[in-house]
Amino acid sequence: MSSSANSPEKNKSFYITTPIYYVNARPHLGHAYSTIVCDAIARRKRSQGYATWFLTGTDEHGQKIERSAEKAGRTPGEFAAAISGEFRGLWDRMGITYDDFIRTTEPRHKRGVQQLFAELRAKGFIYKGSYTGQYCVSDEAFVEVPPGAPCPDCGRTTETISEENYFFKLSAFERRLLEFYEANPGFIQPEARRNEVIAFVRGGLKDLSVSRTSFSWGIPVPGDEKHVVYVWMDALANYMTALGYGADSPELKARFEQFWPADVHLVGKEIIRFHCVYWPAFLLAAGLPVPKSVVANGWLLFDKAKMSKSVGNIVRAETVLEVLGGDALRYFLMREVSFGHDGNFTFEALVQRYNGDLANGYGNLVSRVVNMVHKYFGGVLPDAGAMGPAEAAIAGQATETILEFGAQFEAMDFSRALETVWALVGAVDGYLTAAAPWKKKPDVTDEDFAAMQARVLATAAEAIRVITGLVHPILPESAAKVWRQLGLGEIEDAAKSGELKRLAWGGLQAGTRLNEPAPLFPRAEKDAVERMENLEKDNNLTAVAAASGTEAAVVAVAEPVVASPVVEAVKHEGIAQIGIDDFVKVELRVAQILVAERVPKADKLLRLEVDLGYEQRQILAGIAQYYAPEALIGRKVVIVANLAPRKMRGLESNGMLLAASVGDEGAPVLAGFLEDVPVGARLR
Ligand code: MSP
Repeated sequence: MSSSANSPEKNKSFYITTPIYYVNARPHLGHAYSTIVCDAIARRKRSQGYATWFLTGTDEHGQKIERSAEKAGRTPGEFAAAISGEFRGLWDRMGITYDDFIRTTEPRHKRGVQQLFAELRAKGFIYKGSYTGQYCVSDEAFVEVPPGAPCPDCGRTTETISEENYFFKLSAFERRLLEFYEANPGFIQPEARRNEVIAFVRGGLKDLSVSRTSFSWGIPVPGDEKHVVYVWMDALANYMTALGYGADSPELKARFEQFWPADVHLVGKEIIRFHCVYWPAFLLAAGLPVPKSVVANGWLLFDKAKMSKSVGNIVRAETVLEVLGGDALRYFLMREVSFGHDGNFTFEALVQRYNGDLANGYGNLVSRVVNMVHKYFGGVLPDAGAMGPAEAAIAGQATETILEFGAQFEAMDFSRALETVWALVGAVDGYLTAAAPWKKKPDVTDEDFAAMQARVLATAAEAIRVITGLVHPILPESAAKVWRQLGLGEIEDAAKSGELKRLAWGGLQAGTRLNEPAPLFPRAEKDAVERMENLEKDNNLTAVAAASGTEAAVVAVAEPVVASPVVEAVKHEGIAQIGIDDFVKVELRVAQILVAERVPKADKLLRLEVDLGYEQRQILAGIAQYYAPEALIGRKVVIVANLAPRKMRGLESNGMLLAASVGDEGAPVLAGFLEDVPVGARLR
């Protein structure tokens, strides 16, 4: 992959954006991942001399947010403000160098969205019509499935909408979009996503409904205020409204001129269609320049599934920050995940990388060298003298590393870029160990030994300077510490002055006074994994138990499907609370009964055969005294689908039916639904 801003010198401005995050849930590592990647790119671009603008923010309108707020007993405005504040607070704590944080509830955004809508309408690309079809509230997207069918993207139930809407003439852009992709091969990255988008557009585009009337939490359509603008049109426009699109002030107009179109929209792979089809179509229609690239990151997985609130498998960034620090998180995510692909997060792998690469690798190398310069040369960097073959090899590798790292980073192959630098860390480590400047051999004169120590330590220190200059965008806090220890002052100044851009072997001067060594990456203790796991458990419990009007409570009730039954159970039966991660272990699904019959010589048992959509299976249920078999055929029930099989009366039962236990006898009343639900749908 390559970012188009690589083209040499251009006009030296660079604009990068994260997706704006929905405020229906608190931030987790998946969100932190996109933000960290953008931050690292922005930091490097700045150090390469680009006037850089880095935008992030929150996506606060739409039905999903309105419903979450309602469940939390808050107004959407209060609810959105609380969670948006959490995102911003976390980015600040992580030292994210965003230049602007946009909230879609801000007046500047509303103004810009209304201008875009009016512009499209004036140009004849928006017309009024009526729409009847399926809508997925979770994805905030219209989907083409029959009524009652689940969303093809996320599997959740869709809702039938019948409304008078404004439509955008997306169908008119099929050919223009395909021509645009053809003419701009770097627009969609990586390649696999590009093919996906092209296939989608080739499959035909229908006009897109771009307003809604059945709820009001959104930006009113100018001149027809009972409509609100479709949340994706509202959200996508943030990339322009934050720069000043729709503003009157000359200062903002100038910023828009300078930075639009964006160089990189970094987005998750699941929202590529909105960014690569709808967004360029809106812009082409409005006569505005189209972004240079949309780059899709893969998903961060935890327990083999996309980390997300609805799956209930989230890990918070705060947990990692508390135990290992921000640089450890940044390093892990950028080293472990091959950018563009899905990557696994585990606490074990995190600790392993931290100890292996950071504590024992880079950190240990710096501490050995700085300590020895203090011990043998009073903290003043000696003159290296003449280079031998070993020094020439290190210098050669360092020079190559600068080039390779640069190319790999520009290609967004961050994992390989770090691997390249760590090969140099390893080489310098090996060089030190082989030279052993702490050990004087008997046949070596004092003078020769001192010259060797000077040569080796000066060479190693210079290599550390190069390594540190390179990793600065990924490990900003640690790089700043090492730069100071090397007596070079503030690395941010070096980034601003162009010193890091000119990074080349030989910059460290003899006579430089090094600062005292300070710990960089204290080794993670044995219990680090356990501590992080406990922090996550505590967090889940707090979320479930929280009841007052604090921000934590807002989040708790934003996840009511899980929170309320647990709280109820505690209240009524004194059963211990469980965390969400325990709850999600239970796979509850809708099944349809195909066969029901009595089991001979067992008056309580019925043998059922149920359909789960993806398979049929046998379940034995102790409900024969309460339900006649024939009354059950065709009925939709809820089953525990991942219960280990067990034998009863020589028959295997694969699952369990859910029923309320009623009255003194505990008579079973089967769980069911008022609405029609598809077979196999999961209950969460
Ligand atoms: N609000 C929309 C984006 C509008 S952009 C104009 C949205 N929000 S989101 O909060 O659901 O997701 C935002 C982004 O968070 C995703 O695109 C993705 O970049 C990131 N991630 C959320 N969970 C993630 C993982 N588990 N893994 C990696 N990134 C994921 O979609």
